[in-house]
Amino acid sequence: MLTNRVALITGGGRGIGAEIVRRFAAENCTVVIADIVLEPAAELADELIGKGYKAEAVQLDVTNKTQVNSVVEEIISRHGSLDILINNAGITRDALGLRMKEDDWDAVIAVNLKGTWMPSQAVMRPMRKNRWGRIVNTASVAVLGNVGQANYSASKGGVISLTRTLALELARSGITVNCIAPGAIMTPMLKEVPEDMRQKYLERIPVKRFGTPEDIANLHLFLCSDAASYITGQTIFVDGGLSIGM
Ligand SMILES: NC(=O)c1ccc[n+]([C@@H]2O[C@H](COP(=O)([O-])OP(=O)(O)OC[C@H]3O[C@@H](n4cnc5c(N)ncnc54)[C@H](O)[C@@H]3O)[C@@H](O)[C@H]2O)c1
Repeated sequence: MLTNRVALITGGGRGIGAEIVRRFAAENCTVVIADIVLEPAAELADELIGKGYKAEAVQLDVTNKTQVNSVVEEIISRHGSLDILINNAGITRDALGLRMKEDDWDAVIAVNLKGTWMPSQAVMRPMRKNRWGRIVNTASVAVLGNVGQANYSASKGGVISLTRTLALELARSGITVNCIAPGAIMTPMLKEVPEDMRQKYLERIPVKRFGTPEDIANLHLFLCSDAASYITGQTIFVDGGLSIGM
C-alpha cells in the first residue's frame, strides 16, 4: 500500500506512534522515527532493520523550528522525497482549570498544537513539488470536554481547526490533511492514569474495551494510501463509540 513512500512519524518511539511505524514499515514504506527521546526510537529502528525493513531514528523536539526544518531537509536529501507526515507527538499535563500552572498550559499547547503546525509547514513545499502528500494529525476524544484537561482539550481542538484550514490551503496540490481522534487507547500515556479512573472510563466505552495502538494505526494506513485521495479536512474518532454519548 505504501511502497516507495517516505514517512516521518513524530513521537514514533513508543505507544501509538511506534505501532504506526511498524505498520508502515511492513507496507514497504521508509519510516523516519522522530522522537524527543532517542533511545526507544533507535531500538525500534534497529528491530525493523533486522526484519529487512527501511527505518531510521532521529532525535527531534517538535517545538524546535530549527530542528524540525533540518530533519525534513535531511530526509529529502537522503531519500529524495518526504511523502507522509504523521503528527503524533503529544503530551498531557493535567490539572483542573482553576489550579493549572501557566507552564503546564504553555507546554501542552507548544507540543500538541505548535508541534503539529511546524512539521506541517516544513513539509508543504516539498509535498507540493511532488503533487502528492499525506498529513495526518492527532486530536483526542478530549476535544469534546474532559475534566482536568483544559490545556490538552484546547490544544487538540486547535489541531482539528488547523487540519481543516491546511486541508483547504493544500487541496489543489494533491495533499490531503486529516486528523484522527483516538478514544482511550492502551499506551504508556493511558497507563499513567490511576486505575480507578481507568475503570470509570471503561464503563463509558460502548464496545467495553480500551482501544489498541493497532486500532489507530489501521486508519493511518488507509488515510495515507491512494485509496483515500478524496478524504481531506476530516477528523475521525476511533474510540469504540465513546464520543457518541459525550
Ligand atoms: N493513549 C491514548 O489514550 C490517547 C488518546 C487520545 C489521543 N492520544 C494522542 O495520541 C498521540 C500518541 O499518544 P500515546 O498514547 O502513544 O502517547 P505516548 O506518551 O505513549 O507517546 C508519545 C510520544 O511522543 C514523544 N514526544 C513527547 N514530546 C515530544 C516532543 N516535544 N517532540 C517529539 N516527540 C515528543 C514521547 O517521547 C513519546 O515517545 C498523542 O498525540 C496523544 O495526545 C492518545
